[in-house]
Amino acid sequence: MKQKPVIFLDSGVGGLPYCEHFYKLAPHIPRIYIADRANFPYGPKSREELGRLLKQLVARALERWEAPVVVIACNTATISAIDVLRAAFPEVSFVGTVPAVKPAVLASQEGRIGVIATERTISEPYIYDLARRFNPQIEVIGRAAPELVSFVEHDLLTANREERLRMVRPAVEWFRQRRVDGIVLGCTHFLFLLDEFQALAAPDITIFHSVEGVARRVLQLLETRGLLTNAPETTGCQTESGIIAVTGTGAVSESWQALSKTYGLALEVWE
Ligand code: DGL
Repeated sequence: MKQKPVIFLDSGVGGLPYCEHFYKLAPHIPRIYIADRANFPYGPKSREELGRLLKQLVARALERWEAPVVVIACNTATISAIDVLRAAFPEVSFVGTVPAVKPAVLASQEGRIGVIATERTISEPYIYDLARRFNPQIEVIGRAAPELVSFVEHDLLTANREERLRMVRPAVEWFRQRRVDGIVLGCTHFLFLLDEFQALAAPDITIFHSVEGVARRVLQLLETRGLLTNAPETTGCQTESGIIAVTGTGAVSESWQALSKTYGLALEVWE
């Protein structure tokens, strides 16, 4: 049996660490990463628009690849559109990415946590409702950080450590003034700044993210659906083992070429 690929999608680079983490757990599973750069950023868009755009994108991806599992490696897209996608493509198992609110709530001594995410994620009731399921008294302080999304998408490869720290510092200080003891990285793009968040937050604030949880969930789903072959030699054609498809005409930029090399994924451009 030829192993079918798992598709990861995001508006840009944000889902790459999720795709990479999954690759570390299951290196023989072909992975496809789709960066919807034509519609970046997702954060300021409405639920309705995101539902429509993601339906089109998933339909296009499924025409090209027969993938039983699609990972929405984007919190904004998951919170806004995963129900629409599940209804539109019932044959596919969708794995969503949502902010790691649960461990942050359970670990909080102060009863106060921060979530840093896109405008859309912060303005949806989802994260606040989720947090209250684990502690009805918890205070959740949300901060939208579109400037960090844009920085990661456009400037990360050229920025040095000092510049990255400078970008992250105002957000961490803002949360510290509000006396949170945990900050949840509620946008996949921010995983690229994990070291900086941790360095600035220590020792009084813990940083939470969802990268391991999502990768494990994908693996578990493949196992339960009987879709996991163990032997690497059954993966078949090497060219299908890893692709980054980037939407939009400006996609063949140097940075995407560099990313395709770093992650060992062949670059494909979707007009
Ligand atoms: N990476 C996405 C997330 O996790 C959003 C970035 C964007 O605004 O496009 O929410």
